[in-house]
Amino acid sequence: MSAFNALKMGESQVFTSAKSLQSRLDSESNNSTVGFLPTMGALHHGHLELVKQALQENTHVVVSIFVNPTQFNKAEDLESYPRDLEADLKLLNSVGDVIVFAPSVEEVYPEDYQNLSIDLGALGTSMEGEFRPGHFAGVMNVVNRLFDIVQPTRAYFGIKDVQQVAVVQYMVDQVQSPVEIVPSAIVREPSGLASSSRNYRLNEDQLNEALIIIDTLHFARGIARQLSPQETKVKAIEFFKNGSLEIEYFEIVHPRTLEFITEWVPGARACIVGYCGEVRLLDNLELIPSNK
Ligand code: PAF
Repeated sequence: MSAFNALKMGESQVFTSAKSLQSRLDSESNNSTVGFLPTMGALHHGHLELVKQALQENTHVVVSIFVNPTQFNKAEDLESYPRDLEADLKLLNSVGDVIVFAPSVEEVYPEDYQNLSIDLGALGTSMEGEFRPGHFAGVMNVVNRLFDIVQPTRAYFGIKDVQQVAVVQYMVDQVQSPVEIVPSAIVREPSGLASSSRNYRLNEDQLNEALIIIDTLHFARGIARQLSPQETKVKAIEFFKNGSLEIEYFEIVHPRTLEFITEWVPGARACIVGYCGEVRLLDNLELIPSNK
């Protein structure tokens, strides 16, 4: 055990209590910066790319590994969520020295925990919000709580979960948190499939069948502008049906508000969720270049 009560595994220091993590971070100089990557573990290539980016942009990087019970709307999904801290640490150690925070549920939600209640409006009820009721209230609360503990300079979120990024940015604006939210590009497998821990649940045939998702997004990008967003949506869903996956939703949204659009705007994005067997796969793609 180190002076900070951490278990040293490889190069990662693992903290399970908020107090010990805070003592470790407090020991750093005032001008050091902390990059933070909140995760639920089951780390993959996509997470590692975010860790690498955070390591380049900050003095220290904290990765939290916490399967947050309040963001699951099905008990069986929470129960079956993969948990393998040792495997996660091994992956983290392969990219550099990070500080790991792996708290218990009681540590994150002590008895006196006060729920943060912010009305997310359409942001909380469309797309993921419609199909996973309560999900974003859980995400918003846990991210806010983790920010309180870690006090990061910047926090990294992959835009594969583009609605999550918008919700977190909204929450940060509402509570006037100083944390800079860094949205990071979608990491893809060589096949084009968005990297996800869910991909581990697909067999070889399914990994091929799942490519209909990225193919549909590219198809939509190819026809956007010649058609209205609504017509593009209809054609894209028709295209998707050439494959074997089940569609849950396909929407074309404004890049910031994520409202469904009827006219093209710079940065307009298509968001899609499809089921490959039991596995729910999510992806998105910018259809119209943004003005950046
Ligand atoms: O994207 C995730 O893994 C989770 O929603 C997050 C941000 C770690 C909150 O539990």
